[in-house]
Amino acid sequence: MGRRQELEQRQSLLARFGRMVAAETSLDTLLGIIAEEVRNILSADRCSVFLVDFYKGELWTKIALGMEEKVLRIPIGQGIAGFVARTGSAVNIRDAYKDTRFAQDLDRITGYQTRTVLAVPLRGRDGKALGVFEVLNKAKGSFTEEDEGLLRILATMAATFIENATLYDDLRRSHLETIYRMALVAEYRDQEDTGRHLRRMSRFSGILAQGMGLSFLEAEDIRYAAPLHDIGKVAIPDSILRKPAKLTPEEFEEMKKHTVYGAKMLANAESRLLRLASKIAVGHHEFWDGTGYPYALKGEAISLEARIVTVADVFDALSSKRVYKGEWTVEDAVKYISERAGKQFDPKVVAVLVEKLPEILEARDEENRRMVEDEAASLQQHFPVSQASAPPPTSKPS
Ligand SMILES: [Fe+2]
Ligand SMILES: [Fe+2]
Repeated sequence: MGRRQELEQRQSLLARFGRMVAAETSLDTLLGIIAEEVRNILSADRCSVFLVDFYKGELWTKIALGMEEKVLRIPIGQGIAGFVARTGSAVNIRDAYKDTRFAQDLDRITGYQTRTVLAVPLRGRDGKALGVFEVLNKAKGSFTEEDEGLLRILATMAATFIENATLYDDLRRSHLETIYRMALVAEYRDQEDTGRHLRRMSRFSGILAQGMGLSFLEAEDIRYAAPLHDIGKVAIPDSILRKPAKLTPEEFEEMKKHTVYGAKMLANAESRLLRLASKIAVGHHEFWDGTGYPYALKGEAISLEARIVTVADVFDALSSKRVYKGEWTVEDAVKYISERAGKQFDPKVVAVLVEKLPEILEARDEENRRMVEDEAASLQQHFPVSQASAPPPTSKPS
């Protein structure tokens, strides 16, 4: 390829880069697009985008290990990316294995052989280091000064978009966290293991929703709205909600109203997720055959979201140990639900439950593991082990 053609090609790739990254607001997708486009523009074999985790003082990136994606973390200052992050200067290396800054561990993990490396810092609007752009193994020869200039331009463009996407991500996450905490508040009086139940049933709801053919984003919405299904219980008096004995018919009538209360609390919200949660709250005790409550709706008159969440909710309630009951085996829980397909539950959702059972059980294990870790972490936070070795408070005479 002639010099002129090469320049033209780079220019058009650059323009394309701008268009593609500008259109993306999800950080995850954005990082993927950036890495792929930068790799093309610089004719490199690989491109990694490392981002700074300010809380932990680390850099992180996603790496592909076979079919799996893993998050890799390195301390700032370690390896080439760490060096660039710490010093803010670019690095161009012709033979990685001869460079003392190069950490070979990563190659060892991924089975990759790094030869040439070009890395430049990624800076935010205020000049703060956001991360590092790193390209590996140029197709021919080593990276030139022109490559370095180009990578710097790309880094500047990418930084703005990464900053925006990070803001969106934070916003979305805090939104979700608020929803989740609201749900916890609602069920707090009910039983002590509510948090676990909510996390699991929320994951199951997402999996079932995708199995029902909904898009990834729709399934995510259902997943995040699902924990609010019982929020109306805040309006149910303790004498009913916490009654250890069987409810009288009048009490049960009152208990049923948690569906309507929940729907009212969430109705007409501006947030799409809350409106969805409202539909789920009102419909999660309706039965497919029309014998449920509060409105005795039948079949598809019940919202699809509620039909999905109901199965997830009941499956978790049966298959896990709750305060008021021992746990059933997974087989028994599936059997119970299958027998009620077409009566209590939408038969299609039940079929998806059976089909997706391995994925659901995997999610269940993952959530249970995570919760054990979270509990350990919060114990650490409240009762740090290092407390004993902390210097004694000095009392100053005032
Ligand atoms: Fe409920
Ligand atoms: Fe529930």
